Amino acid sequence: MPPEIDVTAHPSAEPEPAGGVQWQALLDGDIEALAQWPHDPLVSLYGPLCAGPRDRPLVVGHLAQSLDGRIATASGISRWLSGAEDLLHTHRMRAISDAVLVGVNTVLHDDPQLTVRLCLGRHPVRVVIDPERRLDGTQRVFMDDVAPTLLLVAAGFGHEGERLGHAQVVPIERGACGLDPREICRVLAQRGLHRLLVEGGGITVSRFLDAGALHRLQVTVAPVILGSGRPAITLPEISDLEQSLRPRTRRVMLGEDVMIECDFEAVDAVQAGDG
Ligand SMILES: NC(=O)c1ccc[n+]([C@@H]2O[C@H](COP(=O)([O-])OP(=O)(O)OC[C@H]3O[C@@H](n4cnc5c(N)ncnc54)[C@H](OP(=O)(O)O)[C@@H]3O)[C@@H](O)[C@H]2O)c1
Repeated sequence: MPPEIDVTAHPSAEPEPAGGVQWQALLDGDIEALAQWPHDPLVSLYGPLCAGPRDRPLVVGHLAQSLDGRIATASGISRWLSGAEDLLHTHRMRAISDAVLVGVNTVLHDDPQLTVRLCLGRHPVRVVIDPERRLDGTQRVFMDDVAPTLLLVAAGFGHEGERLGHAQVVPIERGACGLDPREICRVLAQRGLHRLLVEGGGITVSRFLDAGALHRLQVTVAPVILGSGRPAITLPEISDLEQSLRPRTRRVMLGEDVMIECDFEAVDAVQAGDG
C-alpha cells in the first residue's frame, strides 16, 4: 500500500491569505516556511519536490483524469474535471517550478494563463510546444506579459530572436518522434529553467514519459466516468504485463480526488543500486 497524504483539510481553492506561504521560497531551502503553515501534510507533499540544489533537474508531469482514463471530452472540454483541491495543487506546483510546459492542443482548447493565482508565488516561465506553428498569437500566453513565454517550434518553422506577440520563438531540431523531450529539457536548462511542470495535455505528457524525461508523474483521478474523450497516457503497445511501468508511488488525497504520484527517480536509483 503506497503512503498516503491527505491535504483535504487545507482550505480548498481560496487564495492563501497575505502572510501565507511564499511557495517559491521553498526552492531556496526555506522549508520551515511550510512547517509554519499549520498543515503538516503539505511538508510531506512538497518537501521532496523542493529539496536539493536550486539547479536540480526535476521534470514533473501532471494530469487530471476520469476513472476511465480521459482528460477531456472528445471535443476538448476539460474544465473542471478535477476539484478545487487539485486546482490549488496545480497552482502550487507552478509556483515551485521554473517553467510550465503545455502542448499546442491545450492552448487551442483552454487558452490557459498558466500563472500562479491561487497561492502566493511567482509565475513560472510559460513554454508552449507548437512544432508547426498552429497558434496565431491571439492566445493569452502571447498577449499578456505577466510572465515570459517561450514558443518551441521545429527548426525551419521559426528563427532564434523571432517573437510571436510577447513570446520568444525557440527553434529545436526535430527527431524521429517530434521534438525530443530530453533536448527540450537541455535547451530550457541552458536558460536556467531546471524545474519543469509538464501540465498537459495527454500527448505532451506521454511523449515526456516515453522518452524517459519525467522524474515524477502526478495523476489526479476524479470520481467521474466520461466513457469517451481524449486519453491521458498513451504509450507504444506492450505485449506483456512485465513490460509495464511500475514506479514507486505515493497517494495524496485531494478532496474527492486521489492523486497518485509516480516516482521514476526512485526506480532509476534502485536499478543503479543506490536505493
Ligand atoms: N485534464 C487535464 O489534466 C488536462 C491538462 C491539460 C489539457 N487538457 C485537455 O487536453 C486536451 C489537449 O490534450 P492533447 O493530448 O490533445 O494535446 P496536447 O498535449 O495539449 O498537445 C499535443 C500537441 O502538441 C505538440 N507536441 C507536444 N509534445 C511534442 C513533442 N515532444 N514534439 C512535437 N510536438 C509535440 C504536437 O503538436 P502537432 O500536432 O502540431 O505536431 C501534439 O500533437 C485539451 O482538450 C485540454 O483541455 C486536460
